[in-house]
Amino acid sequence: MSPIKVGLLGLGVVGGGTWKVLTRNAEEIARRAGRRIEVSAIAVRDVEKARKLVGDQAQVCRDGFEVVRRPDIDIVVEIIGGDTLARELVMEAIARGKHVVTANKALLAKHGNEIFAAAHQKGVMVAFEAAVAGGIPIIKAIREGLTANRIQWLAGIINGTTNFILSEMRARGLSFNEVLAEAQRLGYAEADPTFDIEGVDAAHKLTLLASLAFGVPVQFDKAHIEGISSLAREDIVHAERLGYRIKLLGFTRRRNDGIELRVHPTLVPAERLLANVEGAMNAVLVSGDMVGPTLYYGQGAGELPTASAVVADLVDVTRLQTADPEHRVPYLAFQPDALDDTPILPI
Ligand code: HSE
Repeated sequence: MSPIKVGLLGLGVVGGGTWKVLTRNAEEIARRAGRRIEVSAIAVRDVEKARKLVGDQAQVCRDGFEVVRRPDIDIVVEIIGGDTLARELVMEAIARGKHVVTANKALLAKHGNEIFAAAHQKGVMVAFEAAVAGGIPIIKAIREGLTANRIQWLAGIINGTTNFILSEMRARGLSFNEVLAEAQRLGYAEADPTFDIEGVDAAHKLTLLASLAFGVPVQFDKAHIEGISSLAREDIVHAERLGYRIKLLGFTRRRNDGIELRVHPTLVPAERLLANVEGAMNAVLVSGDMVGPTLYYGQGAGELPTASAVVADLVDVTRLQTADPEHRVPYLAFQPDALDDTPILPI
């Protein structure tokens, strides 16, 4: 069978990782997908730098629209970040009947309703495993593994940068800024790290998880958000003396009158599993009415873990792209014509 053709928008930390994963594990991936997955075109700012990684194995250009408009591209992978150009490129890809894989939580948290509705109408998939909790297959767990459940609540550490900062401040006595610089060096932090520090990135992800778990529209603007910028090392030390660790948690639950959606620093008893999730690791607890509480743990940020999720989506989309369009619907966060209008509760 001929390879499925992919257009990559961006070749930064996650894009470079995606190239490496596809190259290093090419044989296994082809076997599992049923076809070879070939990156045929890449749009980047720095063409010379990209050439060093990919040689002449793919078209490299500066204009993302050139990639999206190539008629032979089946799947567009959007990893440029931001929500302006990324939105235009994704909408154009969908309009042209291409499936989309994205790691862009900010884009989906802001424009997800429009994007999912357009994809639904066009019968294409928008897969976003890499947008939440890096390498942890949390989207697939909620959408597939727990699909028989009514989800009751979900709580998690879903920002690696802030968890790394809190862990290192506690364990090594380093200052906030020292650890942040290290997180940036390691490729964990967002291009604008205030998104991490102020809880915005975690809220983007939580909004997507809530949408998936409860079948409600993406409502980022209703989330309650507090970050860690006002925390001092003394707060961490005092909490520890009292038997707690401070964690930036995302929490959502269904109540009778609505849905709670909040991100804030939380005192977690030191003996709890979540309290012992350290460094850039993420962990998400999801409780379903049939299964009870379940826990998902792994690397929530960084090049290869996030790329692992991008490639998992590429394999899924490749497998399913020939399926009856009805079976593609679960790839959306929800069925846009079957939304629950349960409100998000003000705090
Ligand atoms: N800045 C994000 C984090 C990257 O630290 O979790 C992964 O989404």
